[in-house]
Amino acid sequence: MPEWSPSSWRSKPAAQQPVYASKPDLARTVDQLACLPPLVTSWEVELLKSQIAEAAQGKRFLLQGGDCAEQFDECTADIITNKLKILLQMSLVLVQGSKKPVTRVGRFAGQYAKPRSADTETRDGQTLPSYRGDNINRPGFTPQERDPDPELLLRGYERAALTLNFVRALIDGGFADLHHPEYWDLDFVRHSPLKDAYERIVQSISDSLDFFEATSRAPIHEANRVAFYTSHEGLHLPYEQAQTRFIERQQRWYNLSTHMPWIGMRTAALDGAHVEFFRGISNPVGIKVGPSMSAEWVQGLIATLNPRNEPGRVVLIHRMGIKDIDKRLAPLIQAVRATGSPVLWICDPMHGNTETSSSGLKTRRFENIVAEVEAAFRIHRELGSWLGGVHFELTGEDVTECTGGARGLTDADLARAYKSQVDPRLNYEQALELAMRIAGLHENNKKKRITDR
Ligand code: PEP
Ligand code: CO
Repeated sequence: MPEWSPSSWRSKPAAQQPVYASKPDLARTVDQLACLPPLVTSWEVELLKSQIAEAAQGKRFLLQGGDCAEQFDECTADIITNKLKILLQMSLVLVQGSKKPVTRVGRFAGQYAKPRSADTETRDGQTLPSYRGDNINRPGFTPQERDPDPELLLRGYERAALTLNFVRALIDGGFADLHHPEYWDLDFVRHSPLKDAYERIVQSISDSLDFFEATSRAPIHEANRVAFYTSHEGLHLPYEQAQTRFIERQQRWYNLSTHMPWIGMRTAALDGAHVEFFRGISNPVGIKVGPSMSAEWVQGLIATLNPRNEPGRVVLIHRMGIKDIDKRLAPLIQAVRATGSPVLWICDPMHGNTETSSSGLKTRRFENIVAEVEAAFRIHRELGSWLGGVHFELTGEDVTECTGGARGLTDADLARAYKSQVDPRLNYEQALELAMRIAGLHENNKKKRITDR
């Protein structure tokens, strides 16, 4: 392998990068970012890596979720708390269904840069740069708002730090204590059709904890402090480079802007700048795997990103769409198995199922999302592979962006509370319902594995 440095990506074609009016302004901001403290530590990153290695062996389940894109004006106590609450509720349901520990990875504290299918957008004859996330420009349609502004990278770093600080303080204060799931109650749950089912799950976990603690005469420590890890798409390479540090103690490079950055579908070219950058950092890396990826491409990514077959290093996030999963997934699972390299497979049932509603809004149907997850569990099981996690776009708010779910949201409901600037998210109830459906799949899967023997 050729020599790597945090800037070696600059010799390769970099897709999806904004064009800044002033290169010196960008360079100055990146220099400032490089002097600021990291947001996470290499110990935390290594701990997550060891949990991913366990998940790949079927000993754990990974739940990754959050907004498609975080927005600066949504860096508020309520919105962050509600997001943690829904992720905690979902993980409780998943623990109960899978009978395994669940690792939580938020799409938060830095999910501020977006790939776009077009570089520009035209409205009423005016053409401006596309909105690329709050780290880069603004969603409003004026030249001022759409011009990429390097200062926003600093604002994004600060908000990521504020978000993480608040998450850490909540966790340290006992917010995530499994003995107190009532801390995570969301107002809407009281009126939800899922209320009774959820409460039964909470009660059963609470009974199990009481049972174990009574029989072992000791508190279960892991139950007191459930950690959250962070993740975002490692898209804006100057930003990611600025937060990449050599850690003497580990004798390795880490991207310390987040625990687990991922490579998006549009930037996964084998000879591209993103793969070059990710090759040299020691974090676990997510790779989005879509229906257009060939077996050789995925094998090439594994060989380049994990040449020493380190456990916990690679998370393959397949996002095929309900149309393609039956055709596309199995050959890739076989191709990856042929490499002999350990990977964690997780399913993103969101990004292959995006469509346009009758009123022209980007949406996803709950039933397609559930159907893709069901297909994913079935296909992995049939091949003797383990699906060790899921990846969702969701929010703890009562938005109307995806249709379907227990309340049967229709296209006509979407306009009521559509807030996303990019992809449609599951609302609180849809997210919880999905977790319950997955818990059911785990139970079915277990029965089928036994009858398959
Ligand atoms: C995303 O996760 O928001 C995204 C853009 O995904 P993908 O790269 O899989 O399209
Ligand atoms: Co998205």
